[in-house]
Amino acid sequence: MITPTYNEAENIPVLIERIHASLRDITHEIIVADDNSPDGTWRVADEIARSDPSVVVLRRFHDHGLSAAVLDGMAAARGAYIAVIDADLQHDETKLPEMLTLARDGHADVVVGSREMDDGGYGEWSTQRRFVSWTASAIAKVFLKVPTSDPMSGFFLLSRDTYEASAADINPKGFKILLEFIGRNKNLRVVDVGYEFSNREHGETKLNRSVIRSYLLGVAELRMGRSINPVFLLYVLVGILGVIVNSILFTLFEALGMPRINTGVNDAIDPIYSSFLLSVSLTTLLLFAINNEFTFWEQRFRGWARVPAFFVYALMTLVGTLVHIAVFSWLQEIGLLFNLIGEDAARVVHNLIGALVALIVNWYLNTTYLWRRRQQS
Ligand code: GDD
Ligand code: MN
Repeated sequence: MITPTYNEAENIPVLIERIHASLRDITHEIIVADDNSPDGTWRVADEIARSDPSVVVLRRFHDHGLSAAVLDGMAAARGAYIAVIDADLQHDETKLPEMLTLARDGHADVVVGSREMDDGGYGEWSTQRRFVSWTASAIAKVFLKVPTSDPMSGFFLLSRDTYEASAADINPKGFKILLEFIGRNKNLRVVDVGYEFSNREHGETKLNRSVIRSYLLGVAELRMGRSINPVFLLYVLVGILGVIVNSILFTLFEALGMPRINTGVNDAIDPIYSSFLLSVSLTTLLLFAINNEFTFWEQRFRGWARVPAFFVYALMTLVGTLVHIAVFSWLQEIGLLFNLIGEDAARVVHNLIGALVALIVNWYLNTTYLWRRRQQS
């Protein structure tokens, strides 16, 4: 049994007792993979291990993270079957014998504790949490076609062979350790066992925005391998969102009848659409916020540092726009695709090419001078 812990000092003694009770006829060990919890979970577990030799405590100082902790626990495990269970008593340890039997009798390589089965459930989850979990599951089912009803489950059991066959390829980031196993190897036989998710009585959840982000990155990587930088994909998605938001805002402001401004300086720029200026400014601000808080979470600017960063971002966006215009004008001038697909279609494609070049220029500027890429492991 592997149980990852971070600030679960109050829960771990209860969990150990319950696992022993559930597995009393089965030889087992319990590996507590703790990230040096400030609340001293490791100390509490160490105390128990002194009189209970089936408890092993890994006090981890590096590579903080749920998946990384679980993987370390698995590497230390000696059993023929390896199960993972949250320490906060939200998983139902009484299902373990049934899960083990399914694997032992050769019906499954992986047995998943599922909240999506008839006899399963989510307990008293808020609508928001259910929505996030549902979306994450849906993404896994659509893009990775995983053969389980609950790919987000943190409660599962594997045979040692299954573990050893995949262990070297697992990406130890984030929360989705089960997905790493079943998303990578399509030949695994996966069986679900329903269980009801309990409510947390002590401590709090560690799931936050960075987990959602690293989840999306992980799915992209599982789907496409490591050939494309998944952060770039997020960046493109955010860009597409920007185009949509911009169109909506512009249409809205136009409908509101926002004024045209005449500078009287230059016929080429008159009149200036104030709806255009406002929608572009708002969209730029929104994209900066999303990129800072989401796409480039690891390198994000905090507090007041976001103000100058925003202006640098806006400037880079402007450079990108100028590049877009320049490429488009040039392609129009040389009439690159005119003969091939006709002038009307060519104009659209020329514009797209310009947008693409601008996108790459923006990405380069953003990641080289603003959200600087750190050495990734
Ligand atoms: N070692 C270690 N390091 N353990 C961690 C860390 C970490 O960085 N973060 C969380 N844990 C431990 C917690 O102490 C707990 O035992 C378990 O991992 C689950 O963490 P929670 O923070 O309680 O997660 P949750 O209940 O919100 O999320 C549950 O649902 C998710 C989505 O459906 C878990 O079952 C997840 O595994 C599941 O993906
Ligand atoms: Mn929990």
